[in-house]
Amino acid sequence: MQMLRQAGLGEKVIAHSERVTATALWLVDQLGEDVAVDRERVRRGAVFHDLGKVEDGGVLHGVVGARLGRALGLEEDVCRTMEVHVRGGVPAEEAARYGLPPGDYRPETLEQRLVVLADKLMDVVEAGKAASAAEALATLEGLLHRFPDLGKDAATTARILGLAEAFRAARRENERQPGEQAF
Ligand SMILES: [Fe+2]
Repeated sequence: MQMLRQAGLGEKVIAHSERVTATALWLVDQLGEDVAVDRERVRRGAVFHDLGKVEDGGVLHGVVGARLGRALGLEEDVCRTMEVHVRGGVPAEEAARYGLPPGDYRPETLEQRLVVLADKLMDVVEAGKAASAAEALATLEGLLHRFPDLGKDAATTARILGLAEAFRAARRENERQPGEQAF
């Protein structure tokens, strides 16, 4: 968090980043020991996910953060997490619609997906629509439909709900077939 402060990130965003980090690690714990996940990657991705807000408060803060992160020498996975966490992870064919530079912004790894989901859960809590990450996760679908602003748009809402559903399935299923992707 010290690096975020040095980069000039506001206290509000830093507090959000702390909550997203705690939530992402809680999600890791929820998955259980049978799911291989790099906890430190999740932690660092969550800490830095909003770094780009030092320059851009809008949809571009993901790509801005990744650029700043690469300049700072942060590992590529952390930079990629910043890039893909915006709008639930935008596929290449929709990038232009959001004003993003050409490219695929879908999260590729379990670690990235956990950060994107944790970020949305904390958006819900910070908006006062749920008291905890657990409540936000349990009630996410109804909340996103009742309060469309939380999901930003229908496509983003669908992507977030897809992440939440995949997470729940992974948590339920502790005995997957070998080679089957957990989440
Ligand atoms: Fe963000």
